[in-house]
Amino acid sequence: MAHVRSLFFDGPLAEVENKALRSAQLGRPSDVIWNITNRCNLLCDHCYMAADGHAKPDQLSDDETIDLVRRMGDAGVPVVFLSGGEPMMRPNFWEILAEVNAQGVRPTISTNCTMIDAEAAKRLASYGVRWIATSMYGPAEFHDAMVGVPGTHARVVTAIKALRAEGVGVVLKTALSNGTWPYIFDIIGMAKELDCGLVYICDLITSGRSEGEDDSRVSVGQWRELADFVVSDMLDPDVTLEYDIGAIPSVIPYIAEQFIARGVDVSKGLERLKIMSACPVGKGHMNINSEGGIMPCQFAQDWVVGNIRDMSFPEATQALYQIDLQESEGQCAPEACEYSRICRGCRAKAWQRTGDYMAEDVTCILHPGEQRTIPAAPSAHAAPGSPCAVPGGCG
Ligand SMILES: C[S@@+](CC[C@H](N)C(=O)[O-])C[C@H]1O[C@@H](n2cnc3c(N)ncnc32)[C@H](O)[C@@H]1O
Ligand code: SF4
Ligand code: SF4
Repeated sequence: MAHVRSLFFDGPLAEVENKALRSAQLGRPSDVIWNITNRCNLLCDHCYMAADGHAKPDQLSDDETIDLVRRMGDAGVPVVFLSGGEPMMRPNFWEILAEVNAQGVRPTISTNCTMIDAEAAKRLASYGVRWIATSMYGPAEFHDAMVGVPGTHARVVTAIKALRAEGVGVVLKTALSNGTWPYIFDIIGMAKELDCGLVYICDLITSGRSEGEDDSRVSVGQWRELADFVVSDMLDPDVTLEYDIGAIPSVIPYIAEQFIARGVDVSKGLERLKIMSACPVGKGHMNINSEGGIMPCQFAQDWVVGNIRDMSFPEATQALYQIDLQESEGQCAPEACEYSRICRGCRAKAWQRTGDYMAEDVTCILHPGEQRTIPAAPSAHAAPGSPCAVPGGCG
C-alpha cells in the first residue's frame, strides 16, 4: 500500500504517513492490520480471507483482545486497522474500539458498511474514528452479485453519506480484476461524488475464494492505463482525491517515472520510499489474524512468523524487520532493478507463487518480462462518465 499524493506531494494521509515513517525509523511497528474476526455477514466470491458466517475456533478471547490493544499502546503503535471478516460483527467490537482510543492509537475500520446506520456513524465519530474503509465493486446489480447479498450496494451508499455527515473520512476500496475493470473509472468518479477522501485499488490476490484465479488479474496495459489516469488526476489542481495502491508495488516507481517525464520533482517521495518501500513487508508493517498469528502481509494469511500469545510485541516487531535484511531475487534483485529497494516487488505474491517470499514479483508493470504469466489485455475500456479513460491519461 502506498498513498500516492501523500507520498509525492501533500495529501490527507500525510500526517499518518509521517507517523508511520517515524515509527519505521525507530524500529517500531509502523501500523497494524488486525483481523479481529474471520466471521462475515457477506460471502464475496473473491474474498482472499474466505470469510463466512463462522469465527475461527481458536480466535482471541475478549480478554485477549483488550490485552492486545494495551500492548499495542505500550509498543507505541501509531495506527491500527480493525479488519476481518467483518470487524463490526465481533460482539466486543465497540469495547475494542474504546480501548484503542484510550491507548492513543489511531483507529481505521475496514468494513463492508452493512452495519453502519446514522447512529453507528455518530458513535464511530465519537470513538475517535477519523477514517473508515469500505468496499465497492461496481453498479448495484454487479456489486450485490459479487458480495452475495442483495441490497448491499444501497446500504453502502447510505452508510457513506451518514459517515460523511459526521465528518468521518471514507476510503472507497476495490479489488481490481477482469470483473471489476469495466467499472473502475466509475468507482473513482463515485468516490469523488460522495466526497470520499481516498480510493484504494488493490490488485487481485489469488488466495482464499480467489485461489487459482490468476487469469482474472488485469494486464500490465490496463494497470498502466489506470496509473496514467492517477498521474493526470494528481496534476489536476481541482482534484484532491488521494489514491492508495495495494499488492502491486511496481505501480509506484511507474508513477514516479511518469511524474519525472512531466518535469515534476519527486525527490521527496523517492527519499521516503527508501525508508518505507512501496511493498511495506519488513518495514514495521504488522498483521495479526483473529487467532493471534503474526503475519508480514495480510494478503498471505498462511505466512505466519509466530503468535502474539507467545511473543512480546517488540519480539514480533523485530521478527518482521528481519525480512528487510534480505534482498529481493530475480528481476526484483538490486542488480537487476534500479527500484529494488524502494519497490521490493510484492512479497505476498512471491510467497504464494513459489513459497520463497523473496522471489521475483511476476506482476511487475514496469519491467514486464518474458516469464510473466499475466493474461493478454482485452481492448482498452472507455468508462462512461469518467473524465478520461484514454491510455496515456488526460494530460
Ligand atoms: C477482507 S476484507 C475485510 C473488511 C471488510 N469485510 C470489507 O470487505 O471491506 C478487506 C478488503 O479486502 C478486499 N479483498 C478481498 N478479497 C480480495 C482479493 N482476492 N484480492 C484483493 N482484495 C481483496 C476486499 O475487497 C476488502 O476491501
Ligand atoms: S471481502 Fe469483506 S465483506 Fe466480503 S466476504 Fe470477505 S470479509 Fe466479508
Ligand atoms: S522488477 Fe520488482 S522491484 Fe523492480 S519495479 Fe518491478 S516489481 Fe518492483
